[in-house]
Amino acid sequence: MTILITGAAGFIGANFALDWLAGSDESVVNLDKLTYAGNLETLASLRGDARHIFVQGDIGDGELLASLLAKHQPRAVLNFAAESHVDRSIHGPEDFIQTNIVGTFRLLESVRAYWSGLPAEGKAAFRFLHVSTDEVYGSLSATDPAFTEQHRYEPNSPYSASKAASDHLVRAWHHTYGLPVLTTNCSNNYGPYHFPEKLIPLMIVNALAGKALPVYGDGMQVRDWLYVKDHCSAIREVLAHGRVGEVYNVGGWNEKPNIEIVNTVCALLDELRPKADGSSYRSQISYVKDRPGHDRRYAIDAGKLERELGWKPAETFDTGIRKTVQWYLANPEWVANVQSGAYRDWVQTQYVETAAT
Ligand code: NAD
Ligand code: DAU
Repeated sequence: MTILITGAAGFIGANFALDWLAGSDESVVNLDKLTYAGNLETLASLRGDARHIFVQGDIGDGELLASLLAKHQPRAVLNFAAESHVDRSIHGPEDFIQTNIVGTFRLLESVRAYWSGLPAEGKAAFRFLHVSTDEVYGSLSATDPAFTEQHRYEPNSPYSASKAASDHLVRAWHHTYGLPVLTTNCSNNYGPYHFPEKLIPLMIVNALAGKALPVYGDGMQVRDWLYVKDHCSAIREVLAHGRVGEVYNVGGWNEKPNIEIVNTVCALLDELRPKADGSSYRSQISYVKDRPGHDRRYAIDAGKLERELGWKPAETFDTGIRKTVQWYLANPEWVANVQSGAYRDWVQTQYVETAAT
């Protein structure tokens, strides 16, 4: 048996592939374009492992998808591939529209063609799981209840609007064509292999480099943080037992204002890697101009996932953030290669299956 995962050289997809292959012999076809966010070094431990088949390619390439689906006959396709960074979407939305909307459309069409041709049993068992975000629901006030799956869509950034569009396409492909889809909408992830453009890894990496820790606006925007391996376990659960056509919110029940996150990272670094001059990393905090259209608060009600599938996060924020800071301290080479750009050389040294094979 095989599953096809898109975007599994990125932060969450790679964690998912590593955890999947640690717990199962079912092989993984990993289709990833290797944008700046794709890092094969994260998957270095799978080098030479025949269960991991890496293919460099675009989810928008219908011909490539058709050949991969025909060749590997996956029983499920999991779509992690996306442009994922809100700030980048504000500076340049084009790639977000191409990958998150057009790419998802082409992927759905390729998967539909493949699925339509499966024998009855394979057709019934097949799943298309779309990994999405809580940002599609828009912004909450301080007193609003957390997002349920019934919350209306109110995306505010080019990123969240493109993800919202992709969610609607997935829904429509189920409703119209009967494609057996599942959608997960998750809150902010953190953990190992997180690209240091996002809040938590950026703060760790900048703090250690003696650089400023840029906090947008008043630092009181609230996010609901989930350790990445808990997100991966939720996706496995939804894939195995989720009801076809349903949406499942995934979250950590862990709302925190950004400034508290930054202070926690500083306190952990003060403990684990104290500065030579005895000062706190907090002294590096610098309030900067706010993100345009910055959503004030996200909060996920993950009750449906818990009630229907019995899923709960294994990590508390205290345990997860400690593990995360320890991971960055223990992996300076991964960080250095990301910062220098050397991680992109891994494309040359890793096994890459091409469209022609
Ligand atoms: P990421 O940016 O770290 O990784 C994205 C991966 O997709 C990269 O490996 C990149 O090379 C690949 N990719 C981009 N465009 C592609 C294309 N056209 N074809 C094939 N591959 C392509 O993202 P992430 O943080 O791992 O997020 C994964 C998914 O989870 C995304 O769909 C994102 O919207 C969603 N999500 C992320 C978070 C979070 O906190 N990071 C939370 C909820 C949902
Ligand atoms: O909610 C889920 C989403 O979480 C995912 O869908 C996105 O892919 C993921 O990038 C993330 O989006 P955010 O915009 O919430 O994450 P980011 O790490 O960029 O920012 C978290 C918060 O921290 C946000 O309020 C902006 C703030 N911030 C961020 C950066 C990079 C700062 O204050 N300073 C910074 O330098």
